[in-house]
Amino acid sequence: MILKSININKFRNYNTLHWEPHPGINFITGFNAQGKTNLLEAIFFSGLGYSFRKKASDVINWQSRNASIKAIYQLNNFDMDISIHINQDNGKKLFINGSEEKRKFLPGHFGIVLFKPDDLQIINGPPSVKRDFIDHDIGIIEPLYLRNLIQYRRVVEQRNNLLRTGERHNDSFQIWDESFYQYGAKVLAGRIKLLKKYIPLVRKTYAGITGGLEELEMKYLSTLKITDKTDVEQIILEFMSEGKTRQREEIYKKQTTFGPHRDDVIFLVNNKDARYYASQGQIRSIVLALKTAQINLFYNENGEYPILLLDDVLMELDEQRQQYLLKLISNHIQSFITTTTPMGKISKYADRVYLINNGILREVI
Ligand SMILES: Nc1ncnc2c1ncn2[C@@H]1O[C@H](COP(=O)(O)OP(=O)(O)O)[C@@H](O)[C@H]1O
Ligand SMILES: [Mg+2]
Repeated sequence: MILKSININKFRNYNTLHWEPHPGINFITGFNAQGKTNLLEAIFFSGLGYSFRKKASDVINWQSRNASIKAIYQLNNFDMDISIHINQDNGKKLFINGSEEKRKFLPGHFGIVLFKPDDLQIINGPPSVKRDFIDHDIGIIEPLYLRNLIQYRRVVEQRNNLLRTGERHNDSFQIWDESFYQYGAKVLAGRIKLLKKYIPLVRKTYAGITGGLEELEMKYLSTLKITDKTDVEQIILEFMSEGKTRQREEIYKKQTTFGPHRDDVIFLVNNKDARYYASQGQIRSIVLALKTAQINLFYNENGEYPILLLDDVLMELDEQRQQYLLKLISNHIQSFITTTTPMGKISKYADRVYLINNGILREVI
């Protein structure tokens, strides 16, 4: 996939910008707080329909009530025209080739892989960060998975409301149990399926990054007793039995204590839990492996590489890992790489170098 052009209007500290980036490696330099991350955010927004930061309305320039982004992507030799309007009062509207996209997000069409400094949390952060990673970063290749997930979240919310108000014994609770099991099983089966494709790629890339010296394992820890089977009916049976076991606990705790919204993921380097034993360097390598595997997964599914956004992370990697990443992306992956520091040796990889100063982008090489 290639971003051919982007127009940004009243988005964060940008007034208006029309930009035709290079189809290869774009370096975006500039001092702090000039708009480098904001530009990546605008690209991400134009590809997926939401921000990787907070609420959508926060992206509107403080002097304005509306913001807009218009982008032209090339995917499988077709041009796709994305237009997004964000309004202070009535939210956002998304248009693909002129027609409105009511679901308000675009996953499935677009491959955007983002690597940002706080992604190190995927390894040693709380389980919710790990689940978000599976749901949003990997789940993006499977629109049906995301639809089931949205339904599942609604059901869990309802079920929690009933547990909170002590309505566990009402007849209507059974209906919520049934949907909880149905959607829970679909989400769980979907995750197992995604991870079956993804984990082998992660193992392979990690071995590549460490020159075969270290082994990485990624394990999904479920609150249900599941094997690696993806049969939804079988998982539903497991939900029913777990539901019985947990009944008293759930009444006491007044919440849904099991299901994919409570699951976790762990990473093992040479069989040791990375949360406790991995060095900072190893954690960076694991995240690099995760992102590389994401790129490869998207390629396997779509026959095209996604776009890569690297926000302030390249210079944080040691030279060997920088080389690994730059070799991977040179030639076939359109990349947007932000950095504050002078680039030294790696500048030879750049197809274009830009400088951002107070929301104004200028080509320097
Ligand atoms: N909604 C907004 N309207 C105007 N300016 C904003 C808005 N949100 C953030 N900013 C400004 O954007 C700048 C930060 O941009 P950012 O892209 O994060 O910087 P960096 O170049 O360090 O990545 C700050 O100066 C901040 O005040
Ligand atoms: Mg930044």
